[in-house]
Amino acid sequence: MDFQERIRQKKGKEKIIMLTAYDYQMAKILDQVGVDLILVGDSLGMVVQGYSDTKSVTMSDMIYHTKAVTRGAKKTPIIGDMPINTYNTPNEALVNAKKFIEAGAHGVKIEGNKPEVVKALLDAGIPVQGHVGMLPQMADVYRVRGKKPEEAKQIFRDALELDRLGVFSIVIECVPEGLAKKITEAVKAPTIGIGAGKYCDGQVLVINDMLGMDLSFKPKFVKRYAELNNIIRDAVSKFVKEVSAGVYPDEEHTYH
Ligand code: KIV
Repeated sequence: MDFQERIRQKKGKEKIIMLTAYDYQMAKILDQVGVDLILVGDSLGMVVQGYSDTKSVTMSDMIYHTKAVTRGAKKTPIIGDMPINTYNTPNEALVNAKKFIEAGAHGVKIEGNKPEVVKALLDAGIPVQGHVGMLPQMADVYRVRGKKPEEAKQIFRDALELDRLGVFSIVIECVPEGLAKKITEAVKAPTIGIGAGKYCDGQVLVINDMLGMDLSFKPKFVKRYAELNNIIRDAVSKFVKEVSAGVYPDEEHTYH
């Protein structure tokens, strides 16, 4: 059974777990713990590169990180997030999606409802993950989408269209849980929520957010499963103190 079928079969039975990873070591941990999907998200623009959004991320950035992740994850399907302006036309999408597949990704994610693009990728045998709701590549401000009836209807229609085209799953980002529930019940493809409540078929978070790497960043939907920022600070402070005091390196850490 291919990975798309395994993900599809979980709908309504088992929750789907997706997390982002951008490097070898993190991918190795996720692979060993066991998640259903690893997303090499263009969120790396913020959490790795330090930009305020995802709009500066390029194909070569994404391929660099995808290759690193594929070296760490040996069994988990890896999804490459196509960056802004790399899938404006079906042909452009095809050229760039193939680069992800050559780099070791098993499928690609694209934001929004672009039927011609999705169709071209699926016709070429490239698995596609959809993404509706708040679309970071298009957003001026990051806020909940679909509170207004017209916006909610459009998000619902986009999800239905992506489902009809045959995407293997749909990320729903930052929408009220009632809308995510309605979409989840209406589509065949599993939905994977981020800030979209408990009724989605699965959940995804940006790994740096759930590990508490940046304590100044805490949107409502992010639960911190660790506060690595504090752990790293403590370790670095100890190193600074011990080197300054001549305590490190000691006998145990010295060659003779
Ligand atoms: O870029 C990313 O990490 C994403 C997730 C937030 C779904 O698109």
